[in-house]
Amino acid sequence: MAKYDNSFTDELRQRLSLVDVISRRVPLTKKGQNYWGCCPFHNEKTPSFSVSEEKGFYHCFGCGEHGDIISFVMKSENLDFKNAIKELADMAGMKLPEIKQKSKQQLEAEENYVKITESASKIYQDLLYQDIGKHALEYIKKRGFSDEMIKKYCIGYAPKNNIISSKFSNININKLTSTGLVRIGEYGPYDFFRDKLMFPIFNAHNQIVAFSGRSLDGSEPKYINTPDTELFHKRQTIFGFNFAREFIHKQNRSIIVEGQIDAIQMQNHGFGETVAPLGTALTEDHIAILCKSNRNITFCFDGDNAGQKAAMRACLLVLPFLRDNSEIKFAFVTGGKDPDEILKNSGESAMHKIIDSATPLIDFLWDNVNKNYLINTPGGRAQAEKFLKDCTSKITDKIFQNEIEQEYNQRKFNQWHKWKQQKYTPNIELPDIDSMTLNVIKSIVQKYPELSEKYLEFLSSLNISFDDNVQDTNLSLIDAEKYIVSFKLQRYIKSLQSEKQEILKKALENNISDPSVLQEIEDKLKEAHDKLETLLDMNNK
Ligand code: UTP
Ligand code: MN
Repeated sequence: MAKYDNSFTDELRQRLSLVDVISRRVPLTKKGQNYWGCCPFHNEKTPSFSVSEEKGFYHCFGCGEHGDIISFVMKSENLDFKNAIKELADMAGMKLPEIKQKSKQQLEAEENYVKITESASKIYQDLLYQDIGKHALEYIKKRGFSDEMIKKYCIGYAPKNNIISSKFSNININKLTSTGLVRIGEYGPYDFFRDKLMFPIFNAHNQIVAFSGRSLDGSEPKYINTPDTELFHKRQTIFGFNFAREFIHKQNRSIIVEGQIDAIQMQNHGFGETVAPLGTALTEDHIAILCKSNRNITFCFDGDNAGQKAAMRACLLVLPFLRDNSEIKFAFVTGGKDPDEILKNSGESAMHKIIDSATPLIDFLWDNVNKNYLINTPGGRAQAEKFLKDCTSKITDKIFQNEIEQEYNQRKFNQWHKWKQQKYTPNIELPDIDSMTLNVIKSIVQKYPELSEKYLEFLSSLNISFDDNVQDTNLSLIDAEKYIVSFKLQRYIKSLQSEKQEILKKALENNISDPSVLQEIEDKLKEAHDKLETLLDMNNK
């Protein structure tokens, strides 16, 4: 049955709503947490068939039928597993993964390939301990590798001369080139790796399928990797995964670092669950592979700008894999160092501190949004909101998505609120309202509710509290309105005056020494002031 791997069926279950799928055949109504309907698997008139969207299964209390979205389609449509999956994939708009049966020929070719790469690795490992590899051994020892580690990771040395192409000259040249170890040049076959420290790359079956070679003479590029072959796809290969797998299970998480030496050193300093991508940025495939074990990943990047960017990239890639019980975190190594250097210079405890203080994904995203957008402007806030919405829309679990959106709404309300306030009410203190004016306004508001309605915003800005002994006013409605408007204008002029002082103060603080700028500010304010005085005069007549 398990021809499709779990991640595909998991994805199907995530994308499709059980209630939707069952509703196509059975009318359901919601009661409490669950949905209920008449069981399609036995005859009944009162509903005893319950469907739990949250738990992802149905149960009939009448006949005991029980199952999930796949078994529902299998049973209700009388399909086998394969065809049920096909139908569900159609509904979800997903393409079925191809299940290719490997031909005998192909299997043989693969066997040959691995024979070549593994014997090449043996040769490299031997050479590391011979005279020709002395400088390479010295180098790797200096990097803190013990003989044991060298053996465990099968580290070797590829010499300057064309060792593989000459030693394997009896092997069919096409077979040799298929491994990426040998290339054909103008003067015949030559080795791809020359004078390199060799790190083998293992596949999921613990077979060596490729190599990463580090330059030893300071030449660039620092690392070269086997180019993609039939058996090695960089975008789908995680360095160190073969060693890390059991620890990823045991620790119930994985750690991703940027470099392969970092991954090895982490694995040997108590972080067995550490892996690294291979010479490329992280891909969706890398994350999908790790998520098969569990969905708890701690990303560990450089603290510099490039590291922040890489982290954001990883964050966007991981969002579709997020589940309500995933722990995705981002740790940053600061000071231009990498985990290898931290371990070497400051020890395991320093590394634990970095990993333990990693930022959860929800906070990482939030912090980034606040850093990258001008939250103190409406436009910036709109951009930030759109970005957040784009991010949360990648989460496939709708209930969880909704929870996260609510969390961000709460944060927007709590943390962005102060910007909005600053925007709309300038931080200027107005003189307190005197008690006589206050009493008049109170009496007007009480006598003429239509005025309190009309000038609600202004009146509420005065923070008036009402007590029982509000006196009656003898002002007519028109005079009462005039009173309010004139008071409003007076307040406005006062606020303009203090605003003027604020602006002048700021201008002076910012060392605007250009007198024409100051004059301009002064003129503008005077103009506004005069206009308002005129208005006020008119109103008082
Ligand atoms: P770094 O340049 O950070 O290397 O590249 P590093 O691992 O710290 O190298 P050391 O410690 O000096 O030996 C991080 C990773 O990027 C890939 C490798 O996988 C490397 O581990 N890389 C880097 C390349 O594939 N090619 C390069 O030229 C450089
Ligand atoms: Mn390094």
